[in-house]
Amino acid sequence: MSERKTALVTGASRGIGRAIAAHLAEAGLRIAVHYNVNQTAAAKTWAGLAGSSHVVINADLSTPGGVEQLAQEALEVFGGRVDVLVHNAGIYEPSPVLQTPTLGEWRAALRRQMQVNFWAGADLAYLLAPAMAQAGWGKIILVSSRAGIRGEARHAGYAASKAAGINFVKSLAMELGPQGIGCYGVAPGWAETDMAAEALAARGDSIRAAIPLGRVASPDDVAALVAFLASPAADYLTGNTIDVNGASYLH
Ligand SMILES: NC(=O)c1ccc[n+]([C@@H]2O[C@H](COP(=O)([O-])OP(=O)(O)OC[C@H]3O[C@@H](n4cnc5c(N)ncnc54)[C@H](OP(=O)(O)O)[C@@H]3O)[C@@H](O)[C@H]2O)c1
Repeated sequence: MSERKTALVTGASRGIGRAIAAHLAEAGLRIAVHYNVNQTAAAKTWAGLAGSSHVVINADLSTPGGVEQLAQEALEVFGGRVDVLVHNAGIYEPSPVLQTPTLGEWRAALRRQMQVNFWAGADLAYLLAPAMAQAGWGKIILVSSRAGIRGEARHAGYAASKAAGINFVKSLAMELGPQGIGCYGVAPGWAETDMAAEALAARGDSIRAAIPLGRVASPDDVAALVAFLASPAADYLTGNTIDVNGASYLH
């Protein structure tokens, strides 16, 4: 029997990350459930996973040190290699150009989102790719956003942090393809999670009206795609960021 594959899913305590962890566990992988502050929620994700030997890891990805600690712990618990990295943890903050009072606040908002949404994923890829290359197989999957393709008014910082990942996986796919490492993005439109709760409560009807399917994505809609990309069946799709937006934005 071939060795059981391992996956690190960042931001797996809630929402899309929890569903991704569940789908990958269902596919037979051993999961590192990462969270930032919601320990109880992470434990709930862990308890619901199919199969055994899953672990929970805490790390604050808003600092480079937290990212390094997460990579180190994941490599330790999985015996030196993580086969599948899913960087899903993210924050969504407004950064309106004309309404952000000071340059300091503007910088802080953009840098926070770049750190958690993009830099953390980029650093994890750097830290985990060598062992994947040595094994001759691996997957690096970044959860992006429709905003990273289309742009989003009042959220330039968030959109830019997601756009960075889309370009990043293209370059990595070219570079790491010869080593058997597939690199992908997934780009949800609105999804039914805590992150979208405020917007859905305030203007859910108009959001749904702009989606031909008439509903926002479920976390499972996104997780099913991630599980497919993490499988050998998707090896040849490397370099792509795939839309999961109910035909609300096609390009
Ligand atoms: N929901 C949407 O409409 C939507 C649309 C497009 C793209 N996305 C993307 O999908 C991904 C998942 O979003 P979601 O809706 O599931 O979000 P969510 O429900 O708000 O969950 C966010 C996750 O990220 C973790 N996280 C937040 N800040 C962190 C930090 N500083 N360090 C480490 N982890 C941190 C949280 O951990 P704790 O629970 O410990 O706080 C949680 O697990 C994000 O990258 C998001 O940008 C979401």
